[in-house]
Amino acid sequence: MDRVLKLFLTASLLSCSCRCSKVRVPKFVTAIKGTCVVVPCSTTSHTYATWYKYQHYGYPPVYSKDTKDIINQFRGRTSLLGNAMQGNCSLKIDNVRQEDGGISVYVWINPHNIYGDYTEIKVLAPSETRISVESTQVEGTLFSAKCTVRHSCPVSPPLLEWLGLSSVSNEVTTTQDSGGLWVSVAHAQFNASRRDHGKRLTCRRMSDGNTAISDAIHILFPPTILPDSACWEREGSLHCMCWVEAEPNASISWTVDGRSALLPHFNMTNNYTGMTTVSVMTGPTGHFVTCEAANYLGNDTYQMSGFPQLAQGTDGLTYFILAAIVLIVLGIVVLGVHRRMKKRHEHSRGAKNTRGSENTSQCRQNIESNGTQTKVRQKTYEWHKDDNIYANDVSGGHIWSTAMVTSQAPEDEMASIYLNE
Ligand SMILES: *[C@@H]1O[C@H](CO)[C@@H](O)[C@H](O)[C@H]1NC(C)=O
Ligand SMILES: *[C@@H]1O[C@H](CO)[C@@H](O)[C@H](O)[C@H]1NC(C)=O
Ligand SMILES: *[C@@H]1O[C@H](CO)[C@@H](O)[C@H](O)[C@H]1NC(C)=O
Ligand SMILES: *[C@@H]1O[C@H](CO)[C@@H](O)[C@H](O)[C@H]1NC(C)=O
Ligand SMILES: *[C@@H]1O[C@H](CO)[C@@H](O)[C@H](O)[C@H]1NC(C)=O
Ligand SMILES: *[C@@H]1O[C@H](CO)[C@@H](O)[C@H](O)[C@H]1NC(C)=O
Repeated sequence: MDRVLKLFLTASLLSCSCRCSKVRVPKFVTAIKGTCVVVPCSTTSHTYATWYKYQHYGYPPVYSKDTKDIINQFRGRTSLLGNAMQGNCSLKIDNVRQEDGGISVYVWINPHNIYGDYTEIKVLAPSETRISVESTQVEGTLFSAKCTVRHSCPVSPPLLEWLGLSSVSNEVTTTQDSGGLWVSVAHAQFNASRRDHGKRLTCRRMSDGNTAISDAIHILFPPTILPDSACWEREGSLHCMCWVEAEPNASISWTVDGRSALLPHFNMTNNYTGMTTVSVMTGPTGHFVTCEAANYLGNDTYQMSGFPQLAQGTDGLTYFILAAIVLIVLGIVVLGVHRRMKKRHEHSRGAKNTRGSENTSQCRQNIESNGTQTKVRQKTYEWHKDDNIYANDVSGGHIWSTAMVTSQAPEDEMASIYLNE
């Protein structure tokens, strides 16, 4: 059988007309190492095709129906494409190796016993994977990145994977390039998020691990004031710290009781580190403080307080509820103390101790003034607010000294009580 076949082959080699008209194959194919390559082939409708490696002696099969006949170099890497009934005799060689270069192959068509011309395989080193991405993005918008790879395998283009960011969509298109090669472009879309600011996008060709890495992606976003922001009192003055994340830099402004905080009563310093801005404000205690951060993309405000235990309130309502609870608790305590005092007072009266009675009533007065002190303070500041003092340095200075007197009043009273004794 084999001998008969070879006889036919030899006979056919002599008749050029058969070779040129019945089987169409290219003179050479260009393969990129590591990908597949297709040797296109078309002829008349047939049953099966066998491909051989050309050499001076022998007919080593590159592809055969009988897998065991295939020479080691190609076993497991070759297959036929398309439909033989429709005359398609194309050969696919997977995972092209450097040593496949320079080999010529030809096809034998059964049962017509016609053969094709030689096709030489040229092998090129793989080209670099290329990535392109617009490096500045605004948060919440979609942006796209492209990863390009050149190959010789349109039937199964190299797989590309994106690393670094998770894509919303990914689409691969393959088009014919020059020199019989192909270009596949993976076109992925990403949702810009501040978490990804400064990250790099990587495209990896899975066949050989070749990667392309983008520049750091700059993601712009409006400011957010972090909930770590708070105020506290130390050594009789108020310290407020406002933590802001923004890109580009946020400009920070502070308001105190609804007015812009101004020097010299309030000091403000900003520290910029990456996309975080920390602004510290110091000034006198007992005020409603708000931090405002803005960049060209937007702004954020955060209501803080002079009282650390109330600093968590992010909106006016929360703050109001907390303040109300504190006032109620304070009220109950005052009422309780007041009642106990009253009882004691009655006792003393029963004992007809006039000196003790005087002391107790003075003590009660003191407690009452202490109890109402919070309210007094608030009233004073509301009145300040209406008077627009923070915009005016001179009158501001005056009011602040008034505030100091108010807050010191109870201590003076205490002192006088001790003096009386
Ligand atoms: C042969 O089949 C392959 C795979 O289906 C196809 O890509 C190719 O275009 C076909 N060739 C011809 C000449 O029809
Ligand atoms: C992008 O992400 C933001 C925040 O997660 C989301 O609100 C927005 O709808 C996303 N946009 C798209 C187009 O998926
Ligand atoms: C933020 O602002 C500060 C002060 O204006 C400046 O020194 C710094 O370079 C800015 N950073 C960025 C990322 O724009
Ligand atoms: C700014 O903040 C960074 C990090 O919190 C810190 O290392 C640096 O010393 C600060 N710079 C100034 C001038 O306070
Ligand atoms: C503000 O800072 C200046 C100098 O840095 C200092 O003299 C002044 O006492 C500070 N004022 C307050 C209210 O902390
Ligand atoms: C803050 O943003 C709102 C819209 O989001 C805008 O109406 C307002 O004017 C901004 N305020 C400042 C101080 O930029």
